Amino acid sequence: AKEVGILAMDIYFPPTCVKQEELEAYDGASKGKYTIGLGQDCLTFCTELEDVISMSLTVVTSLLEKYQIDPKRIGRLEVGTETVIDKSKSIKTWLMQIFEESGNTDIEGVDSTNACYGGTAALFNCVNWVESSSWDGRYGLAVCTDSAVYAEGPARPTGGAAAIAMLIGPNAPIAFESKYRGTHMSHVYDFYKPNLASEYPVVDGKLSQTCYLMALDQCYKQFCSKFEKYEEKQFSISDADYIVFHSPYNKLVQKSFARLYFNDFLRNSSSVQKEAKEKMEPFSSLTRDESYQSRDLEKTSQQVAKDLYDEKVQPSTLIPKQVGNMYTASLYAAFASVLHNKLSNLVGKRIVMFSYGSGLSSTMFSFRIQDGQHPFTISNIGTVMNINGKLESRHVFPPEKFIETMKLMEHRYGAKDFVTAKETSLLSPGTFYLERVDSVYRRFYAKK
Ligand code: ACO
Repeated sequence: AKEVGILAMDIYFPPTCVKQEELEAYDGASKGKYTIGLGQDCLTFCTELEDVISMSLTVVTSLLEKYQIDPKRIGRLEVGTETVIDKSKSIKTWLMQIFEESGNTDIEGVDSTNACYGGTAALFNCVNWVESSSWDGRYGLAVCTDSAVYAEGPARPTGGAAAIAMLIGPNAPIAFESKYRGTHMSHVYDFYKPNLASEYPVVDGKLSQTCYLMALDQCYKQFCSKFEKYEEKQFSISDADYIVFHSPYNKLVQKSFARLYFNDFLRNSSSVQKEAKEKMEPFSSLTRDESYQSRDLEKTSQQVAKDLYDEKVQPSTLIPKQVGNMYTASLYAAFASVLHNKLSNLVGKRIVMFSYGSGLSSTMFSFRIQDGQHPFTISNIGTVMNINGKLESRHVFPPEKFIETMKLMEHRYGAKDFVTAKETSLLSPGTFYLERVDSVYRRFYAKK
């Protein structure tokens, strides 16, 4: 198969959110800490009605309906998630309900988990399958679904929730440049979930930021060297029209782009202009470790890279700023933001993606955008995703209500024998929701 990639996409996030400006005041943080300091506008969260299973049921059903895909045409279904609801039964098996109805049980794939990287693993598994000799001519479907929730404290405002489904096949409008993948994997304790009785991670915030930037450096190095091997010319950020980052919060994305720019400076690349070079010169003698700690380098590189950030990165920031960290879905929600913002002007463009999952696993890879064939075109993907409509129809909750929901969900995590409230008025038609969990932990969902 040729030009394998994403044929179609859909995104779902709950209609319930809290404004960061209000959360910041409620938490007693200094004004601007969450909105400017973290760079976030809103945080979307699941109420007791929704979870990673319901969100993935919603998004997969919606994708199949809106692109009119016969469920029998799916031959591989992969789910990336780091929200564990069951230690054995994968979310993929819940999604099989959709396919069993049409008599299709011949579908490979299970769940992939490693923090925010699981979605990328799921996507790669689908792409690799379509490119392989075991491909049977049907579509792959990669699903990312997560609810990011943190204990009270500085990490809590970086929560979020969403699910994304991506249909994979040949002759795709969003085609992988498979040869240029650069990966970095390593053993660190920056963010992990050792307490199986709690949904909350143990997180070393500062270490996770440094690990993210170190992984970015390593992946960029690998990505550039693979590109250079095949293209016989140097790669720099000028060769990328858009750069999309996993987005725990927007400030880290700003720092990450500046870090790539610093890498280009160190590699003496043509993407760095003379004036910027002069400003960066004092930092050329820092050791690598020093360079992760230098506040001056961080500030200077962000300042000299600002115009390029606005051009190449800013279009990807819409959904991540509005919804928050969506863990496995975060990178693909950022990518969906580029599609939404640059809809009519993407054919021929290269989009570089950086996926990071704590613990850690990370990959940089790229897409080339092409004309597709209806219904698999960029403009149709934009119409189906209806991002403005979804963002505008959200319901803003006061912080008190968000905190109340977090408390309730702490009790509900891992619990049995309960029913949820029947109040589904905020959910739009077609949304799946949790109705009850019985005495042997079986979960029952309904569709509004
Ligand atoms: N106005 C403007 N900016 C402010 C204000 C204010 N009133 N107050 C603080 N800030 C700035 C700080 O200067 C800082 O910005 P800087 O990094 O550019 O200096 C920023 O706000 C954050 O404030 P800090 O005090 O540094 O950080 P804090 O202790 O509040 O925690 C952190 C932030 C570490 C990101 C925390 O939210 C966290 O642990 N998040 C989860 C971990 C995470 O997402 N890691 C990323 C990769 S791993 C993953 O994806 C899960």
